[in-house]
Amino acid sequence: MVPTPAVATAVPELLPDHDLERSSVVANNTMNRERGLAGVNSYARELGFDPLSHLSARSASPSWLDLCSGEGRALRTAAAQLPATAVLTGVDLVGPLDAVPVPPGLELITASVTAWEAPRTYDLITCVHGLHYVGDQLGMLARAASWLAPDGLLVAHFDPVSVRTADGRPAARSAVAALRKAGFTYSAAHHRLTLLGPRIVRLPFRYIGADPASGPNYTGQPAVASYYQRDGAGSTR
Ligand SMILES: C[S@@+](CC[C@H](N)C(=O)[O-])C[C@H]1O[C@@H](n2cnc3c(N)ncnc32)[C@H](O)[C@@H]1O
Repeated sequence: MVPTPAVATAVPELLPDHDLERSSVVANNTMNRERGLAGVNSYARELGFDPLSHLSARSASPSWLDLCSGEGRALRTAAAQLPATAVLTGVDLVGPLDAVPVPPGLELITASVTAWEAPRTYDLITCVHGLHYVGDQLGMLARAASWLAPDGLLVAHFDPVSVRTADGRPAARSAVAALRKAGFTYSAAHHRLTLLGPRIVRLPFRYIGADPASGPNYTGQPAVASYYQRDGAGSTR
């Protein structure tokens, strides 16, 4: 009997962040980057809760970090309704394209979330359909976990199918298992990761590059596939 040859998994050319962030999939102004705070095309709808009520219930000086914030519309609306002592920060690769003045209490930073470091902790950290374009998604989640205030909440849309091993095989199950072990909750129905409370997260994955030509993800939009080598792991509070 002739043995069946092992099927070689094609590994595409993997791009470093510098090139990934200039690819047509990531540097794409036509993506939905104008979600508001509430309503049909909104953060409340995508997150499954109203960020404003969540923040208002937390403290007199609530803080919200929105990673991959697009135009920052949800943050702008929240800034107008929260106390003047609230701290709101948005970080986006291309920043807001509309030249609208930024209200007091809100900072919109143009930077890659893979390089930016939070200078403080936050009560709420969100990433609404932003991870789909980030190369080292797992690394970003691990860093964001350390930026949570005590009992702070992190919510991010995540497509496990976009995580691959160095030889091109799917790593969705092991990625979700490692994230759960580190304290995250994952809702497959909503493609949402949630983490309550800060932690030092070490995931057993070492990032090696990304493929922006992997095709559409569950949103129907072209997205990035992130490639990792397996490593050692853990998480501490
Ligand atoms: C689909 S849009 C979502 C924007 C916003 N969260 C919303 O829901 O309206 C994805 C955003 O991710 C941003 N983005 C992609 N890669 C990024 C990176 N490495 N760092 C920061 N922002 C990034 C894009 O510029 C874009 O504004």
